[in-house]
Amino acid sequence: MSETLFKVTIDNIVIEVPAGTTILNAARKIGGEVAPPTMCYYSKLEGSGGKCRTCLVEVSKGSEKDPRPMPKLVASCRTTVMDGMEVKNITSERVLTARAGVVEFLLINHPLDCPICDQAGECYLQDLSYEHGADKSRFEFQKRTFKKVDLGDKIQLHMTRCILCYRCVLVANQLTNQREHGILDRGDHAQIATYIQKNLQNDFIGNIIDVCPVGALTDKTFRFKNRVWFTKPVDAHRDCNNPKCCGEVRLWMRGDEVYRVTGRIDEWGEVKDASNGKPGWICNECRFDKKKVSDWVIEGPTNVNRHSVISQGHYVNSVLPQETLPEVLNGRQPKLLMDIHNVSEVNKPNIELSALDRPAHSTDF
Ligand code: SF4
Ligand code: FES
Repeated sequence: MSETLFKVTIDNIVIEVPAGTTILNAARKIGGEVAPPTMCYYSKLEGSGGKCRTCLVEVSKGSEKDPRPMPKLVASCRTTVMDGMEVKNITSERVLTARAGVVEFLLINHPLDCPICDQAGECYLQDLSYEHGADKSRFEFQKRTFKKVDLGDKIQLHMTRCILCYRCVLVANQLTNQREHGILDRGDHAQIATYIQKNLQNDFIGNIIDVCPVGALTDKTFRFKNRVWFTKPVDAHRDCNNPKCCGEVRLWMRGDEVYRVTGRIDEWGEVKDASNGKPGWICNECRFDKKKVSDWVIEGPTNVNRHSVISQGHYVNSVLPQETLPEVLNGRQPKLLMDIHNVSEVNKPNIELSALDRPAHSTDF
């Protein structure tokens, strides 16, 4: 039986999608700026979306049968298309104003600690506030704060940065054998917690780091070791013994050192499908314990197409820096070239930063 297709117009672009598709997924098929930003929706996690309101759109015509516009803006990640529906995203002033308001609310309790946050450069809230937010806040009260919590030896929780998107809870529910954390309390007191400071030990729990849109959950094996835009993403794989793990990862390298291992993320900030067609979640062993190049079969540099600062450090089509030494020497052949490492305390060459089991300090460099 042939699939029923609905014709929907989003920002004046007409597209046909199967019945039951959400407005968000229809807009993603068009791509670019027509696709609303998302902070809580994650297509690989069942039941995600409907929490953050960043994906609000205006439905200016309900359907062919009932052309009345919807009175309020709707969450595009949770609203399905109707035949003949007309939707406005970036072409609607109402949407842009509402989205700026949502960003302001999301930032009410969020600290302005991007300069010391490990997520800086790949933070969706940073991008969202840059693209849709105002340049100042009207919030004059004290922000709510929490102490940092170690969720085991590999993951750190900065609850202060959390936007309560629920993605990490859904990962623990749907990917691991037992969920050990959740959202406790309500309203302003709502927080991600394990209740009595438990460790998160499950073998797939590392994926909560990848799905967290902000720097609330960070990888302790990478914390403060390097800025993400100084590292080079490389796609690699290995034969992982864990049958649930796809073994297909992204290595974040600097020189020959593997600083961090993550799942492969697509243009919507979600984990890509692996070559077996299933979502490319990876196990903790691949993520935290395989930090040597020899552990991996390197496939090649990652094609970074997201307009983030990471692509600024990417080496495809980059111009090589000018070699200054031959220019300075101007044809002279010195008898001796000083190795600065023998006389200087800086840039200690023997230290593998990724092998440190703690954040790197100035004394390590
Ligand atoms: S810790 Fe991160 S993933 Fe979990 S609810 Fe908070 S923002 Fe979302
Ligand atoms: S992405 Fe739709 S409400 Fe969060």
